[in-house]
Formats: sequence, structure tokens, C-alpha cells
Amino acid sequence: MAESYEKSWSDYWRDAGADAQAITGAEPGGALARYWRDFFLDEFGRRDAARVVDLASGAGVAAREAVAAASETGCATAVICSDISQDALAQAARSFPGPGVGYVVADAGRAPYVAGAFDLVVSQFGIEYAGLDALRAATDLVAPGGAAAFVAHLADGAIARECAGNLAVLDALQDAELVARVETLIDTAFRVDAGRADASGLAAAEQAVRDAAGRVSQVMEAQGPGGGAAFAGQLIPAMETLYQRRARYDRKDIAAWLSHQAGAIEAYAGRMRSMIEAAIDETEMAEIRAAFQCADFSSVEAEPMALKPEGGPAAWRFLARR
Ligand SMILES: C[S@@+](CC[C@H](N)C(=O)[O-])C[C@H]1O[C@@H](n2cnc3c(N)ncnc32)[C@H](O)[C@@H]1O
Repeated sequence: MAESYEKSWSDYWRDAGADAQAITGAEPGGALARYWRDFFLDEFGRRDAARVVDLASGAGVAAREAVAAASETGCATAVICSDISQDALAQAARSFPGPGVGYVVADAGRAPYVAGAFDLVVSQFGIEYAGLDALRAATDLVAPGGAAAFVAHLADGAIARECAGNLAVLDALQDAELVARVETLIDTAFRVDAGRADASGLAAAEQAVRDAAGRVSQVMEAQGPGGGAAFAGQLIPAMETLYQRRARYDRKDIAAWLSHQAGAIEAYAGRMRSMIEAAIDETEMAEIRAAFQCADFSSVEAEPMALKPEGGPAAWRFLARR
């Protein structure tokens, strides 16, 4: 696993902070939280003790529901949040520290757990990032009498389509080279302001920025509201303000800010691409289902699931019992 891949997720968790749950659509009390709450209450009602792992847990949305359900039911649980990003686990530790919760940095494709280590193996929008082999390998982790439950990205589902819309806006920002053009404009303006260049290049540089912003706006309009449009909708006026007020700032700070924005666009686009690539289609889900059936799971269910009343199916709901 490339170090840069781990780093991109860690950067995400560090930058997203408390907003991370909004980004994954897992708002407290929302459809996903209710799904996990019902799941854990049901499972803990069936046993006195349970070892639980939340694979690619992020900040531990599913694990948090396990901890809450355990305290309601009195089921003795050991819960592990397992993620490739240390920063994600640090967020989980901050949001629900406690006895009985462990945090393990691990690639879900090479999870360091022994066969049958867990009664409940769960993942929400996580394990599929490690590929289909990771889903197949998860069969080994489930103890007899245990279950695997995943909520996973659905190819061409509502979330995947939203990601594609966001990506179109981010691609437009990159293709139009908007940030680079603003950088050139500000550089030109600083030289003109200092009397080191005549003003003739300024109009052309301003026009280049207007053209690029216009191209991005067209894509934003075509895609409609969404995270990508909101991001670009804040960035474009912020760059305009920066240009107008450039005299108040140090040239180096402006360059650093623009470079940070270029990096943020690239990272956001990368995340959208990896979400789209991770999404599971019908054929892949049939393969996963078969892998669980071959591994002696007595019941295996996989169904598309809606997360909001509008928008249609957004995720796979997968549940297999051994
Ligand atoms: C979209 S987030 C979902 C996080 C969390 N389960 C949730 O629903 O909020 C995907 C998570 O997968 C983690 N991840 C990506 N690839 C991984 C891998 N190969 N192994 C383990 N975790 C991975 C990322 O660090 C991130 O926390």
C-alpha cells in the first residue's frame, strides 16, 4: 500500500475534523446511525458478550453505535476501530474514548487479526476501499455464530452519482487551471503595483481568470448543488477578494494559500475518484455473496439501501451470518 495513499486519508481526517461525518453522510441520528443501532441492539440481544471490529472505521460511526448499544443491553463488548489512518482513529478516540474500545492502524486488505477473532465484523463505507479481496478475506475473521455486516458504496447509487458530480466540478477547476491563472494574475499585479511592469499584461491576465472561472461556473450549473459546487462556490469569490486586497498581504503568504488550495482540489478529487472506484456493482456483489456462501455462512443478504427519502438507493446493505 503506497504511503501517499495512507497520507491522503490522514490529510482528509485532519482537515475534515468534526465535518468528517457530514462528508460521509453519517449524521448522528440519521439513517445509518439508526441502521447500526438496530443492528447492534438485535445482535447484543442474542449474546452475553461480543467481540466487534469496525473495519476502515474512520472516526468510528458504526463502532460508536456498538458502544452505545452495549451499555443499553449490558452485553460485554470489546470493540476495535481499525483504519489505515492514525488520524481517523485519533478522532474516534476523542469522540468516544472508553474502556473496552481499542484502536488499531491497519490496512483492511491485510488485517492483522486471527481467524474467528470477532463475533461481529462491521464496516461502513470502508472495507470496499481495500478491494474485493478484503471483503472475501473478512469471511475468515467471523467466529462461528457471528455475523458480518457492511454498508458499502453502491455503483451508480445516489452517493456515487453525487461523487461523480463533485468530481466533474473539481476536474473543471483543474482543467481550467483557475488557481494557476490567479497566481499569474496576482504575480502580474504585484509587479505592476511595484512599478516593475507596465499595466498592459494585467487586462489579459484578468481575462484569463474570468474565462477559467466562467468554464468552472458552467460545469457547476450543469451539475447543480453538491459538495464540489459548494467548494468552488467558496473558492472563486475568496480568490477574487484576495486579488482585490492583495496589497494587505505578503506575497509569500498568498502563494502559500494558493498552493494549499491547489492541493485541496487535488485531494478532494482523489477522494471522489477513490469513492467511485470503491463502489460495488451487481456482479461484484454476486461474487462477494458467493464467497460468504462458500465459507459456510448460513444466511447471506445483500440489498441496495436508501439513506434519504429522495435520491433512491445509495448503498449496499450486506449481512451474513455464520
Ligand atoms: C469514506 S471513509 C468512511 C469512514 C467511516 N467508516 C464512516 O463511515 O464514517 C473511508 C475510510 O476508509 C479508510 N480506508 C481507506 N482505505 C483503507 C484500507 N485499505 N484499509 C483500511 N482503511 C482504509 C479511510 O482512512 C477512511 O477512514
